Amino acid sequence: MKKMGLFGGSFDPIHQGHLEMALRIAERLELDGVVLMPTFVPPHKIRESMASAEHRLAMCRLAAQGHPQLQVSDLELTREGASFTVDTLTALCEQYPDTQWYLLVGADMFVTLRTWYRFEDIARLAVLCTVPREGTDETHLFEYAADLAADGIECYVDPYPVTSVSSTQIRRRIAAGETLTGLVPQGVEEYIRQNGLYRRTEGMETRTQDEQFIEIIRTRLSDYRFHHSMCVAQEAKRLAEKYGADPNKAYTAGILHDIMKDTDKDAQMQVLGDFGVVLDEIEQRSPTLWHARSGEVFLRNILGVTDEEILSAVRYHTTGRAGMSRLEQVVFTADFTSADRDYPDVAVIRSLAEESLTAAIRYGVEYTIRDLIDRGRTVHPDTLAVYNEIVLSEGNGGQTK
Ligand SMILES: [Fe+2]
Ligand SMILES: [Fe+2]
Repeated sequence: MKKMGLFGGSFDPIHQGHLEMALRIAERLELDGVVLMPTFVPPHKIRESMASAEHRLAMCRLAAQGHPQLQVSDLELTREGASFTVDTLTALCEQYPDTQWYLLVGADMFVTLRTWYRFEDIARLAVLCTVPREGTDETHLFEYAADLAADGIECYVDPYPVTSVSSTQIRRRIAAGETLTGLVPQGVEEYIRQNGLYRRTEGMETRTQDEQFIEIIRTRLSDYRFHHSMCVAQEAKRLAEKYGADPNKAYTAGILHDIMKDTDKDAQMQVLGDFGVVLDEIEQRSPTLWHARSGEVFLRNILGVTDEEILSAVRYHTTGRAGMSRLEQVVFTADFTSADRDYPDVAVIRSLAEESLTAAIRYGVEYTIRDLIDRGRTVHPDTLAVYNEIVLSEGNGGQTK
């Protein structure tokens, strides 16, 4: 059985710390080689000062020069879109059935391994390896590894640290005109200079977060759904201004609300399962509700959205719920009244939305409940709760009519 290391990273740029780690693990674990694999960087993570995929690949090749045990692969760069580590490992295991893989992970990322997409599968496919960084407290790293080992997961933490360098530090030094001697392999330093990489200062990203989100949904949604999402964003913003929610958050939530709507059911289930979200019985039987739950999970865990108000506006945009925040109400309503909508009652609900958000929501909820009943479908309890809440708030509890 061959023993190979896989070391993925953005390598922007590859530096001495990376190189030492690859060589150290190769030597200590007597690997036949280590594959350096620059990763595809999703559009929303591209910084203004980031080197192109071609440059990152070229620098890896230069860093590997003179080290026959190092190879460079463009597997993830040539694949369409972002790859998960588990997919890359699966592909490698299929391509090289007689090889045991060792996954090299930077110390800072190693302690997050359990949160990685399909971590159990990763742990099954490869031995997890890392090396501490000089001058950092290693206690947590060793504890984390011991904890993994206690779960029967094969891992290796080298006892001796490598030079502490970070790609961020290197980019800052270049922008400040400082030398890189000793921080990156010499060939890489020359390449950076010749190509004028990283001269721009960090934090100069010119695209807004919303522009990045729009780029992401454009790749994930059909033209029809993309247009709908943009219309909901506009409408949510307008309603937010009218009814006192945060217009910027409303716009963002509108862009993102249907992010999983065109994703197939299995993939949605996978995302939910990976992040431990269990659907209730009604949701399980209503696949049209899944995209709101999987959307929230995807935004939170994969795109790194942290704004809880936006996340819950996405989560409840289909069912609604009792006690909706103003932002949730606005997004919920905008999904009914956006400019692209053309169902029979749209004019009615649009004019209600000009008078009162509650009236529009009530109409929308009644419309939804009737439609579900007509089609013999279940009604989610959260939707009934919205209806009941509004009727009760009107004071008659529906009893006197
Ligand atoms: Fe939706
Ligand atoms: Fe929608």
